[in-house]
Amino acid sequence: MANEKAVPAFKVGGRIEPPYFVDREEELSQLVHDARTLSQSNVVIAPRRFGKTALLRAVEAQVSREMLAAYVSCLGMLGAVDFHDRLVEAVLSAFAAKHGKARRLLATWRDVLRKPVVGMREILEEIGGSIEGVGSIRLKFRTREVDEPALLAAALDFPERLAEEGGERILVILDEFQALAGFNGHLFSLFKERMESQRRVVYLFSGSSLGLLTEVFGREGKSPLYQMVGRLFLGEIPEPHVHRYYRERLRDVHGVDISKSALNRVTGYVGGIPYYFQKLGLELERDIALKGLSRIDAPHVDTAFERLLEELSADFQERWQTRFSEQQRAILKVLARSPGTVSEVAKELGVPAPNLTYGLSRLAEAMILTKEGRTYRITDRVFAAWLRAL
Ligand SMILES: Nc1ncnc2c1ncn2[C@@H]1O[C@H](COP(=O)(O)OP(=O)(O)O)[C@@H](O)[C@H]1O
Ligand SMILES: [Mg+2]
Repeated sequence: MANEKAVPAFKVGGRIEPPYFVDREEELSQLVHDARTLSQSNVVIAPRRFGKTALLRAVEAQVSREMLAAYVSCLGMLGAVDFHDRLVEAVLSAFAAKHGKARRLLATWRDVLRKPVVGMREILEEIGGSIEGVGSIRLKFRTREVDEPALLAAALDFPERLAEEGGERILVILDEFQALAGFNGHLFSLFKERMESQRRVVYLFSGSSLGLLTEVFGREGKSPLYQMVGRLFLGEIPEPHVHRYYRERLRDVHGVDISKSALNRVTGYVGGIPYYFQKLGLELERDIALKGLSRIDAPHVDTAFERLLEELSADFQERWQTRFSEQQRAILKVLARSPGTVSEVAKELGVPAPNLTYGLSRLAEAMILTKEGRTYRITDRVFAAWLRAL
């Protein structure tokens, strides 16, 4: 029986590969093309849970057959040292994945971070080349002979040098790039210099902040990386793809049908936001297993969605209490009921419209709100549903 295999129909977290990877074909082939040909660096912009990491990982998987691809998540980085260490580690891992003999280099690199400096100098000298270069600067940083900007410069030079030695090309993927915006203004001007001069390295950034996009990439004369990267916005996945995915997965894995009204209910609740349609799918799948459903109808989706909201509640609660000002919370409560313009929200709250412009534009910059024409709506429709139930 098909459903005795331990293969789930839906998937959250980890690598999202076929058959779990839905749509994004155009974006994927465009990004792969730009990386392979080194023709341009790109930044992928989307709110959280829209599938940035999954897309970046898919690009990495495709291009790593023919070039090096180093994936780095910038989340939680505290400063130049973190950035340097994680970038070098990722580049060496990519190198080691492609060339078995490079595994020793990766081990040596890890020693550079913790073994006694003196012995490491000798080992690095023996290895020579780009590894010696980056490693000895890292050792000098340990002994405080060089400062953070020097460390950053060394990190950014390393991929190009390594690629040059090996006659390689390399894609450097920096996921959640906005996490770097806080810690060193210097970093972005270093990036600019490198992007202009490097011939073997191409970058792929992702970000979940429009503010960052404008600040780092968007303003002529002001933004350090102005016009240096292509931009790609990820929206929700179109409904037909989501419906087909549900139909095929439920049928192929469980031999279960889902009605048209149930499918409409699914996208009514979670739209085409990948994280949520996968999570809701997992809920339905649990019903199939535990209640022995042989067909899914709209009421099943209703109760599955209720459970999903419950499960997400702690996360939403935490954000609700820590991320927003009091005024922003008031705005969000109004917009959760229905989308509106500045003056409509102002009227609802009984305040002058100009008082709201700052709060609204900050929310839009953080992609919490989406602006369509003059109308604002909450980007995350599941969060909006949770707010309505509050
Ligand atoms: N193209 C996709 N097809 C199917 N599911 C996806 C896709 N992209 C993302 N997902 C689902 O959404 C989850 C979150 O995606 P992720 O890429 O981590 O979002 P982000 O990085 O934008 O916050 C993934 O674990 C997966 O379950
Ligand atoms: Mg991500």
